[in-house]
Amino acid sequence: MPTTLKQCSIEVLRNLLQEGTRTLALDDEARGILRGWMLQARRGGSAEALHAPAPPAPPPVAQRQSPAPAAVVPDTVEAKLDYLRARAEHWRPALSLGSLRSTMVFAVGNPHARLMLVGEAPGYEEEQQREPFVGRAGRKLNEILRAMGLRREDVYISNICKFRPSMGERQGTSNRPPTEEEIAACLPLVMAEIRAIRPACIVCLGGTAAKGLLGSGASVGSLRGREFFCQGFPVRVTYHPSYLLRNEALSERRRVWEDMLGVMRLLGMPVSVKQQNYFLPS
Ligand code: URA
Repeated sequence: MPTTLKQCSIEVLRNLLQEGTRTLALDDEARGILRGWMLQARRGGSAEALHAPAPPAPPPVAQRQSPAPAAVVPDTVEAKLDYLRARAEHWRPALSLGSLRSTMVFAVGNPHARLMLVGEAPGYEEEQQREPFVGRAGRKLNEILRAMGLRREDVYISNICKFRPSMGERQGTSNRPPTEEEIAACLPLVMAEIRAIRPACIVCLGGTAAKGLLGSGASVGSLRGREFFCQGFPVRVTYHPSYLLRNEALSERRRVWEDMLGVMRLLGMPVSVKQQNYFLPS
């Protein structure tokens, strides 16, 4: 079954509800769309996206005195992430595409981090270890974090797509970037992670993450150095660590480093003279 806007919207609304959101500001267009879906469901039309069971019939009047049991709403960051991880494990919008592998790789790091990094999708090693950025690109990312004076445990590391994109029989240890459809299918999960973590800065590692969070297909070269927001949280864009594995030129390392200096400034981190001068030609 293809992932529809309706399915994704319902998942987002359900997550918001679970997180305790009870009111939403909607523009006329969104209201119109939701009204249409509601009418369709009432008429018995296609309800394929409504995975939740129908609500039970109201109890007889005599029983209505006792309060309904309170819904369990995750109220700590850890509980919200546990809830999301469990939902992601069987995330139908993604798994029903049939183009992603079935092992879910969620995120790693500090739920209270001020810095959230978002990559592309798990690769061979990430799938094996069920942890983002543990292969070569991950080691490069660790180097960048170390240069910033940070450890993996200080930040929150996630991916825009939670499943390794499938390549069928050609797979082996090969990886491919997720398609727009695959990104869209996982997007409600990443958006909910952002609302749980409430980071002071999100860094998109590469164009795929930027496409998801910013909806922009522009090149990383044209997005870096600019200020963006996602759900009200500041976003910066830089090259994916694997770009630096392919291109080790000092100029490219400096470009990424300048992006990270900007992130450090945004986070109010001290920048030493030594750090300021990393990757400058001597
Ligand atoms: N590349 C990514 O974008 N994410 C990973 O987790 C690993 C490699």
